[in-house]
Amino acid sequence: MDAIVVTGGRQLSGSVATSGAKNAALPILFATLLADGDHVLENVPALRDIDSTELLLRALGCRTSRDGHSLNVNVSRPDEALAPYDLVRKMRASILCLGPLLARYGEARVSLPGGCAIGTRPVDLHVDTMRRLGADVSVEAGYVIARAERLKGARILFEKLTVGGTENALMAAVLAEGETLIENAAKEPEVVDLVHFLRAMGAKIEGEGTSVISVTGVDALEPARHAVIPDRIEAGTLLLAGAITGGNVRVTACNPAHLEALVAKLRECGFDLAQGDDWLEVLPAAAWNSTDLTTAPYPGFPTDLQAQFMALMTQASGTSVITEGIFENRFMHVQELVRLGADITPMALVAVVRGKRGGLSGAEVMATDLRASASLILAGLIAGGTTRVNRIYHLDRGYEHLEKKLAALGADIRRVDGS
Ligand code: EPZ
Repeated sequence: MDAIVVTGGRQLSGSVATSGAKNAALPILFATLLADGDHVLENVPALRDIDSTELLLRALGCRTSRDGHSLNVNVSRPDEALAPYDLVRKMRASILCLGPLLARYGEARVSLPGGCAIGTRPVDLHVDTMRRLGADVSVEAGYVIARAERLKGARILFEKLTVGGTENALMAAVLAEGETLIENAAKEPEVVDLVHFLRAMGAKIEGEGTSVISVTGVDALEPARHAVIPDRIEAGTLLLAGAITGGNVRVTACNPAHLEALVAKLRECGFDLAQGDDWLEVLPAAAWNSTDLTTAPYPGFPTDLQAQFMALMTQASGTSVITEGIFENRFMHVQELVRLGADITPMALVAVVRGKRGGLSGAEVMATDLRASASLILAGLIAGGTTRVNRIYHLDRGYEHLEKKLAALGADIRRVDGS
């Protein structure tokens, strides 16, 4: 298994471009199942999760081909609307094929995703949604089995905010008979981007980006062309890489409006930032203050940047209280940061970080999940000596050549063959 070796001490500087958003590309790829024919998606990042999704789409009767960041999907009816365990277990977002398959073919057999490092992450809200839309859904031998002659529009009130649940509801409702009202809907930019793609396919949807989305079902949709939005989590991670090294980094091809919570927090800590229409720049800082943080649904501070921000707080002057408001087990990176010398006390959903500039020293650490990997690399950028981050396949799920982007900014970082 590959590893990444980083030697700390370099201040990053320069400009780096953001890739397309993983968490927009994934639901949009599954949405292509709603219409036969040729879909063209631009600005699709080269990630393991995209590869996994292509494998699943091919198993569902599609042909896919890539040319750089452009991905063509030719959709046609599968022999069986089945998403098998050996494919789904690689990526829990595979549950997002449930809505499109059920809406299009009146049946779906989708393996349960199984747990993952950051929590149990059930799919009960997805299953309840399909039942609300009139499907008969059972769970048998680890598979969600859903059937419906034709889905019927309904009022769906999510008791808990769910990005994937909102996305599955949208992809089921667009071909349902009549009106669907989705209340307490997720407002993430990736949900909005999915709606833009569905609308390009001919769907009738209003209210995206607010907590109430209305859908008027249509009889059929058409294949479409769409450019995926920039990845706000990658952009935030690159900005934090500049900040933690006291460097001066401009992140381009991003949407600053999607990063307001992070920018506000960085300013609260004493960083100066500049921004334009499609770029954000962090300016050099010799020191910064601690701050408290609670992750929340958009437009709150994203849980996917919590681990990376915690790395920054290990270098802050003062103590930070970081509360994880979304997932029940998203502090897997804490013990690894402690191995590097960080002074952090995790307590269930809260971690207390006592900052100390220059307090980290290189060590061998293990990536446990996608965003933890990024956090450990950021810490390695400023730890004294060399840090080796193992199990880096986690990183490749969601970052396009992160080590190359950081090396281009001046980091002493390389990928090594872990075998
Ligand atoms: C999406 O996951 C993202 N993944 C996650 O990014 C992100 O952390 C998360 O939203 C929150 O923003 C993709 O978009 C592919 P949720 P999702 O449904 O949809 C609970 C990354 O690093 N829940 O909003 O799975 C759940 O356990 C990944 O790129 C239920 O209880 O998240 C969690 O506590 C990690 N029942 C909360 O809701 C359900 O049926 C929010 O989950 C579904 C979710």
